[in-house]
Parts: sequence; structure tokens; C-alpha cells
Amino acid sequence: MVGSGAVAANDGWSSRTAFLMAAIGAAVGLGNIWRFPTLAGENGGGAFVLVYVVCVALIGMPMVLTEVLLGRAGGGHADAVGSVADVAERSGRSRKWGAFGLIEVIAAFFILSFYSVVAGWVLNYVFLSGGDVLSVVLAGNPLSPAFVGQSQAEVTGMMGTLFSSPGRMIALHSLFMAVTLGIVMLGVGGGIEKAATWLMPAFFVLLVLITIYGAFAGSFAEAVVFLFTPNFSALTPLAVNEALGQAFFSLSLGSAALITYGSYVPARVSLGSTAAMIAAADTGVALLAGLMIFPIVFAAGLDPAAGPALIFQSLPVAFQGMPGGALVGLAFFLLIFFAALTSSISLLEGPTAFAMSAFKLRRGPAAILVAVLAFAIGIACALGYNVWSDVRPLAFWSVFENTNILDSIDGVTGKLMLPLAGLGLAVFTGWRADRRLVEAESGLSGATFVLWRGLVAWLAPVAVGLILLFGLFPGLLG
Ligand code: TRP
Repeated sequence: MVGSGAVAANDGWSSRTAFLMAAIGAAVGLGNIWRFPTLAGENGGGAFVLVYVVCVALIGMPMVLTEVLLGRAGGGHADAVGSVADVAERSGRSRKWGAFGLIEVIAAFFILSFYSVVAGWVLNYVFLSGGDVLSVVLAGNPLSPAFVGQSQAEVTGMMGTLFSSPGRMIALHSLFMAVTLGIVMLGVGGGIEKAATWLMPAFFVLLVLITIYGAFAGSFAEAVVFLFTPNFSALTPLAVNEALGQAFFSLSLGSAALITYGSYVPARVSLGSTAAMIAAADTGVALLAGLMIFPIVFAAGLDPAAGPALIFQSLPVAFQGMPGGALVGLAFFLLIFFAALTSSISLLEGPTAFAMSAFKLRRGPAAILVAVLAFAIGIACALGYNVWSDVRPLAFWSVFENTNILDSIDGVTGKLMLPLAGLGLAVFTGWRADRRLVEAESGLSGATFVLWRGLVAWLAPVAVGLILLFGLFPGLLG
């Protein structure tokens, strides 16, 4: 039975809203606020945004439904492998299709390892801005700009100071992983759902407030032009490839989360409309994040193509020149922290559900096992910014020859594992799974069902197959 809030091994969501909050919480994360604006900035803005939205609508949204549906149809298994294998068996196919679920579990595990390190950087700025707010409040001037009295070089240098301190990076990474673990150990109803139903509304309030602030204090019109005027000359084939990859990452596709969360959804909930809402909310947040960040970047005359340093170096500099910048800076980094936490929770939950069923563990030990192993790999990622900064784990592979440890794991999961799992499950759902079972579970009917199934059976395999090919062998694009 679902509901009741009991913390059983397999407890579920108490309502559709709870599921929506948790799934949107999984989708909305560093991908929306850190990766999306970075990619849009580097790829010329509007054209990239347009391609991204098309990728979400035609491939991402149908794939969200595919994964959630496989999870709920999975005969009461909570884990991605068992769910897919079960649907295959009931469709008269081999249980080996579950291998694509296993790729998802492994991808989630590796994403968790580096995600927690980057979330640790966010925590660093939460603490720095918290200290800054405390000092301006004590000085009786709460509406002061951020980091008064510090030079621009000192503010951008905060990132370098963090990167050159392995101890500090690892401490923040441990803190973030410990909080994630604590919530997952409390269970689906008692931990994950509660965290999402508190953190997501707080996230949305902060997002809207900072966007309004940026609209008044920043260069809003310039940001709108940048994000929504397509300049197709900036759009390289590689950017199209990045856009589809980003759609997968941002929607949490290919990484066990949606299958696992889908398995906790009560039978009465119609999945088609729910999946559409998840994809729409995630994309809306990415666009709003752009409208929150770029007005501030442009007002301070900073470079929109600054890359990964955009939110950690450019924005604090911008907050230095703006009224109320200290408070807004703290609100901004808190917002990213909330988004990252609801995502890391679901990154841990997928592999945890798998460990529970594969190794017959209870939730607590399973979650601890996964978190400790991912934590250890995260330590290597953190050291890749200092003591191991020369290490290039994938030096033999031209795409990744200059990539450090963290970016290598990000690259292999994002460019290889997520699309591969997506490709396998699209082919499975479109061609091999029992059509009536899929139709009944989808909650779609008539033309909508035919359209969705067509996108999953034809467009997704072709498009995702192409991302895989060109992502791994960019030389093919000439
Ligand atoms: N979607 C998350 C983000 O945008 C990242 C992510 C990828 C993720 N795969 C996931 C989160 C699986 C939770 C579960 O930041």
C-alpha cells in the first residue's frame, strides 16, 4: 500500500504533488543553474536555447514518461534493473534488458561522486556570503553590496583559494554527502518527500525574488535579447550535440532516478501529464535561471561566455557593485544549494534501491555503502584540482585527453552512459515492450499515445544514437 508515511523499505509517495516535488527536485539542480547558463553563454545564447528547448520537447519529455512508466510498471521493484527486467519478462522478452537499468544505476553513482564535490563549492560560497551578510548586518547596513572593501581580484580569487585547499574541498564534500545520506536513510516518505516538499518551494521563492531583483537592478533587456535572439552562426554541430546531452543531464534521464521514483507512484496517478509537468518545470527553471543570472552579468559588464567560473567568480563580482548585493549573494548560493540537495538525494536513492535488492540490504546499510564509495571517488575528483591536477585519467581517448578527474567522470557519464541507457530504453519501450501494457501505464490514449510512441520508437533512438556517435567521435563532424 502507498501512503500513510510509514518508513518501510518500500514506502511510497503520499500524493501526486509529493511525487511531482521530488521528481522536479531531482531534475532541477546544478544542471539548470550552473551548467545550462554556462553552455548557453559559451554557445552564443539564443540559438543554443532554441535547440535545447526543441530537444526537451521532442526527446526529453517523451523519455521522462518512458522512464517513469517503466518504473511504475516494474512490478513493485524499486530499483531500475529489476523494474526494466520485469517489464521485459511480462512482455515475453529477455530479462537481460535490465542491463540498461544497470547502466543507469552506475551512471547515477558516478554522477553523485562529482556532484557532491561541486555542491561543496556551492556550500563554500554559502558560508562566505553568510559571513559577509553577518558583518554588514552587525555594521548596521544590511542592504550593503557584497564584499565591500575587497578588491575584484580578491573576490574572484576565492575560487582559487578553495581549489588550492584539498582539505577544505574534501570537508565541504563530506558535509554535503553526509546531509544527502541522512535524508535518504530516513526513507521515501519520511526523508525524500519531506525534504522535497520544503526545499522546492523555498527554491522557487528565491528564484523568483532574485529574478525580479535582477530585472530592476540589472540589464534585463540585454539578457532577454541574448537568450532569445537566435544567432545561428554561433551554433556549431557540437553545440547541437551539447544541447541534447544537456537535456538528458538536466532532466535526470539515463540515471535511474526517474525509474526509481516512478516505482513509488500510486497506480491512480496518470503518468502522461505528470511527465510533461516535470519536463516543463525543469525547462522553465533553466530559462528563469538564465533570466536571473545574465541581467546581473551584463549589468556588471562581465563576459557571458566565462564558462564554469560564471556563477562562482563573475556573479560575486557583480554583487559587489549592487545595492543589497550581500543579501542577494547569500540568497543566490542558498538557492543553488537547495537545488543541488534535492538532486543528490535522488542520485543516491537510485543506486541505494539497487543495492537493497541486489545485496539484500536494508535501506540504511545500502545507502551508507553507496554514499561511502561515491564519497571516495569524489575525493579523487577534489584532489584533481590540486595535488593531482596533472592526472588525465582518459588521456588515451582524444575527446578527453586534456580533461581532469572530475570532468572525465562528468564526460563519460554525460556523453556515453546517459545516452546509451536512453537509447536502449527507447528501443525497448518503442519496439520490444508489450504495447497494451505500455499504453495502459502511460495514461495516454488516441493520437497523443501514437505521437508519444512514435517519438520514442523513431526519433529518440536516431537522435540519441547520433549524440553518442558525435559526442565520442567529434572528428566525424569534420
Ligand atoms: N538533473 C540534475 C541537475 O540538473 C543532475 C542529474 C543527472 C541528476 N542525473 C541525475 C539528479 C539523476 C538526480 C538524479 O542538476
